[in-house]
Amino acid sequence: MSSLVNHDILQQRINLFLEQKLAQLVINDEKLHQAMAYGLLIGGKRIRPYLVYITGEALDISLDDLDGIAGALECIHAYSLLHDDLPAMDDDDLRRGKPTCHKAFDEATAILAGDSLQTLAFDILANHNFSEAIKPKQIKLVQQLVTASGYQGMCGGQALDLAATDKKISLEQLETLHSLKTGALLEASVLMAAECAQQISEQDKQSLKEYAQLIGLAYQVQDDIIDITSTQEQLGKPSGSDLISNKSTYPALLGLQGAQQKAENLFQQALQALARLPYNTQSLAEFATFIVKRNH
Ligand code: IPE
Ligand code: IPE
Ligand code: MG
Ligand code: MG
Ligand code: MG
Repeated sequence: MSSLVNHDILQQRINLFLEQKLAQLVINDEKLHQAMAYGLLIGGKRIRPYLVYITGEALDISLDDLDGIAGALECIHAYSLLHDDLPAMDDDDLRRGKPTCHKAFDEATAILAGDSLQTLAFDILANHNFSEAIKPKQIKLVQQLVTASGYQGMCGGQALDLAATDKKISLEQLETLHSLKTGALLEASVLMAAECAQQISEQDKQSLKEYAQLIGLAYQVQDDIIDITSTQEQLGKPSGSDLISNKSTYPALLGLQGAQQKAENLFQQALQALARLPYNTQSLAEFATFIVKRNH
């Protein structure tokens, strides 16, 4: 994401925030603490935090307030990956160029580290030192994170993903699966930041929601594409693993070109949603570009 000017600064910001959070925790079991740090602090593009920050930037929300939302979302994401890689789910050995958590530690520790990162997310959100104007919105923010993470969101999508393995599903079913599995947290990144705005019309919220849904879907379409087109070195995780495990993916359903065209269409629609907004949405537009151009 080097083309995005402030990405590096924001990545450093969220990394520091998460490092400090983890350093403050009193955890009796050293292995658990290390596994949480392994899952949360090593690598990762930090796209959910980045999306929180750039949405907040467009809406003039302070970075200090956004830290709590960005940190909580990244904890949920990290937990979802620890569990996603487990033998009972995708059974992957490599993540972010390193052994997966259950390989570096053991399965039970990876499960518990995932559980602990999930609850840490809500700890961060519930206890963040939000400014006075945002404090009254904290319960709403917690509700948004619950919905995006649980059975109505990411977990629900993971269940559909597992159920669709070794099966041919319709494009519509695939879209539902993706919009829950990956889309829900990306959508929450935009909408939780928007929730902090003091004055935002329902219409503008709706446009932001559409943007988030479109890039969320585009993200997963591209994830499926690069699983085929990129190398293990580029990905930091095995390539071709969707094919090997017979996953339902966009390229499997539409062919590679069809999937690439789909990503491009979603990208164009996302830009149209942004064009309806009365804010400076340049960073959000650049982010949409990154989503469909990325090769890792
Ligand atoms: C990978 O997420 C899993 C999906 C939801 C597609 P990311 O691509 O955001 O992974 P990291 O955090 O950068 O490793
Ligand atoms: C993971 O999706 C999505 C979540 C963890 C919610 P994938 O299984 O497609 O992600 P990768 O390919 O392992 O990163
Ligand atoms: Mg998976
Ligand atoms: Mg996986
Ligand atoms: Mg994938």
